[in-house]
Amino acid sequence: MLEKFDRYPLTFGPTPIEKLDRLGKHLGGKVEIYAKREDCNSGLAFGGNKLRKLEYIIPDAIASDADTLVTIGGVQSNHTRMVAAVAAKIGMKCLLVQESWVPHEDAVYDRVGNILLSRIMGAEVHLVDEGFDIGIRRSWEKALYEVKARGGRPYAIPAGASVHPNGGLGYVGFAEEVRAQEKQLGFAFDYIVVCTVTGSTHAGMLVGFAEDGRQRNVIGIDASATPAKTKAQVLSIAQHTATLVELETEVVDDDVVLLDDYAYPRYGIPSEETKEAIRLCARLEGMITDPVYEGKSMQGMIDLVQKGFFPEGSRVLYAHLGGAPAINGYGYTFRNG
Ligand SMILES: Cc1ncc(COP(=O)(O)O)c(C=O)c1O
Repeated sequence: MLEKFDRYPLTFGPTPIEKLDRLGKHLGGKVEIYAKREDCNSGLAFGGNKLRKLEYIIPDAIASDADTLVTIGGVQSNHTRMVAAVAAKIGMKCLLVQESWVPHEDAVYDRVGNILLSRIMGAEVHLVDEGFDIGIRRSWEKALYEVKARGGRPYAIPAGASVHPNGGLGYVGFAEEVRAQEKQLGFAFDYIVVCTVTGSTHAGMLVGFAEDGRQRNVIGIDASATPAKTKAQVLSIAQHTATLVELETEVVDDDVVLLDDYAYPRYGIPSEETKEAIRLCARLEGMITDPVYEGKSMQGMIDLVQKGFFPEGSRVLYAHLGGAPAINGYGYTFRNG
């Protein structure tokens, strides 16, 4: 589905699929749980889902003759870390707008984890005191203007690389990769569980799996706590991406399955249940999920298994999208394990 698009390789290649046997047994053994390890997809600054998206954005940045990648996220954004890493790798400058999306109090929240790595990689970091919103932000537009005013040539990458025209393509590739891996495994997955916030990961998967009619088997777990906005953004990115890849079926509202029961109390703040899910997965599988994104989708998947949402015998594929560095900002939360 992606042959006609330019791709700048930033990842190692297909990501491994691992069976989470102990977690599956612990949850009653009625379904099989697997993880696709997008968190281990690259040697660039710990990797993660943004790299698949950026592979289809960077060719345009290079062609545009830009010299500075400009993007935006929260203080502990994984996305801004990934853009900083890519800028370093391709020899561009990088300006990151990091807003106060999370009202989280940890003495070193703006010194450790993702933001620390971005600083080490040479990105210019602007801390801005604005709250959470997945839309286009004034602070980001201002940063683009600032780079131009200094004589630089900015290239604009929106939050999560999502509403960029090519933002959905990378995760179409994920679906194609899973289909190829299913052939080798000799079975197909019944459900794919994915954490959803700015929307292009879910949207790309939806389009990729629509190729064989499985778009509604992609179960999005909202971690934004603004699910109406996130759902609308997934739909519009999916429709745009479907046009780009000339998908033969139309993407409609009901194709976006987004469960909004797990994002509480708000974006970036883990509930007791999220913390328990992080501990359980870490203690049974040695697999680290974070309090902002993957901990919430892990909590969602665990709850859905326990509630019998997936019929007995189902094979569930959990997309592990990365994000572990953010856990360093939650040292006090996990001070007792
Ligand atoms: C680790 C992690 N998981 C999930 C997501 C959600 O992906 P998206 O923003 O494409 O919905 C993100 C980024 O926002 C992320 O960094």
